[in-house]
Amino acid sequence: MDRLRVGGLVPAIKALFVTSELAGLAKAGGLGDVSAGLPLALRRRGIDIRLLMPAYQDVIAKVGSIDWLGGLPARGGIPPARIGQVLLPDGMTLYLLAAPALFDRRGTPYCTPKGADWADNHLRFARLSLAAADIAAGRGGLGWTPDIVHANDWPGGLAPAYMRWDGTKVPTILTIHNIAYQGNFDASQRHTLAIPDAAFDINGVEFHGRVSFLKAGGFYASHVTTVSPTYASEITTETQGAGLHGLMQTRAARGQLSGIVNGIDASWDPGSDPHLPHHFDPDDLNGKHANADAVRTGLCLRPSDGPLFGIVSRLVHQKGLDLVAEAANDIVDNGGQIVVLGLGDPEIEHMLNRTSRRHRDDIGVLIGFNEPMARRIVAASDFTLMPSRFEPCGLTQMQAQRYGALPIAHATGGLADTIDDGTTGFLFSTPSSDALMAACRRAFDAYDNQGQFDDMRRAAMARCFSWDGAAAQYEALYRRLIVPPTLTTRPHLPCRRRPAAPLSDALEPAA
Ligand code: ADP
Ligand code: GLC
Repeated sequence: MDRLRVGGLVPAIKALFVTSELAGLAKAGGLGDVSAGLPLALRRRGIDIRLLMPAYQDVIAKVGSIDWLGGLPARGGIPPARIGQVLLPDGMTLYLLAAPALFDRRGTPYCTPKGADWADNHLRFARLSLAAADIAAGRGGLGWTPDIVHANDWPGGLAPAYMRWDGTKVPTILTIHNIAYQGNFDASQRHTLAIPDAAFDINGVEFHGRVSFLKAGGFYASHVTTVSPTYASEITTETQGAGLHGLMQTRAARGQLSGIVNGIDASWDPGSDPHLPHHFDPDDLNGKHANADAVRTGLCLRPSDGPLFGIVSRLVHQKGLDLVAEAANDIVDNGGQIVVLGLGDPEIEHMLNRTSRRHRDDIGVLIGFNEPMARRIVAASDFTLMPSRFEPCGLTQMQAQRYGALPIAHATGGLADTIDDGTTGFLFSTPSSDALMAACRRAFDAYDNQGQFDDMRRAAMARCFSWDGAAAQYEALYRRLIVPPTLTTRPHLPCRRRPAAPLSDALEPAA
């Protein structure tokens, strides 16, 4: 018996969540957090959701014992693989995709230890996508097949495509966390990736003469979601659609594109977070001030009564940190201090280090990826700077509001959807250092007006960003895509065979 039962009446939806990151095991950014939080919230709603992720070297080292199930065949130049099963401490089932030649190496999910993309990323993530399609078709010896496959970002983009080419009639969702990362590879790779000739077409995987994983997912998935309503609308525009705006417009016109805002983990609680030296709540901020003193001391900044501006971020062009470097003199001249924790593009690292050397007593920069330190900095900060040029959702601004660090952010994507300007943070409408500085001046004014600042901090800390809202919306979408009668609310009749689910009209090609 491989189905959960809801109230003993109906079979639970079985969903396979396909991801390249999972917080706690392999995380490079927000996708790792989403993969840990959303499936768990869906499981709390009675959905039998299981994760599929590559068996990276680090992951094998961390998970302990793995129950090896079955094998998956090679296809084209994609090597065979094995599937292992792990029960995570939170009760989730994780299927690990083992193909040692592709995944058993040191580095991040996408890059070498030196930060270069792995040269065989097309094979690595085609293997992941194909494994999802294999599992949906009943291969791999799992004794479990999903009613829906939920793939994420370009690494999962070929899953809906392989399923379509194989004739596997299981609905699919592609969630786009960032349309700028597309997984585009040379056209000659299409034979290695076992892409049928007819599918190397504008109505298929072809994108400006190359093979595009994200385009493939955007085209073949039954439904496309992204991580905020504003970003869902932005990616239909030429300026923000990264060349895929036409396809996104088509999906939107068919009602097949939606935006669902992410949540954050419940462990982001300033009253109980074990990573914080001092706990606090909206009515007693002494702990917050003590955290700020500790961060100042740790980074050798001078003691100050002025506001602390925090940044925890991947250091990439998207995040607009060059605007912070330009505004830094003004922020410091106005009595502010800045602390940065980040990792990424070496040029951005150097730029921030140079800025900090100009203001050694007031700007501290830590290069690295460190979860406890991230939480301490957010807890210590009065404001969080997020001048992102674009931001599909953003988790940091939600974490910051929970910890009373009012976000100062460009009004784009999820930032516009989750920050209430003048109430829980400060938004500005153009990504320029002048606009950022104008918003910082509003923040300084609020800081100087204790009553206003306390009210804003209280409002921000009271915001609820739990995963439950997002999970309810994804469940409704799953139910819409999985055709009845498999999922009616009628009582389960154990002795009668249910008819196979008819092909959903959502499985028609997108364009
Ligand atoms: P993105 O996914 O684009 O990087 P998000 O705001 O969605 O941005 O999510 C970033 C996540 O990664 C947050 O949980 C944030 O705390 C974490 N993070 C980013 N940079 C670091 C870092 N240097 N150290 C620790 N955590 C980080
Ligand atoms: C991407 C986006 C970020 C989003 C995260 C999780 O990394 O850049 O805005 O919050 O995915 O969905």
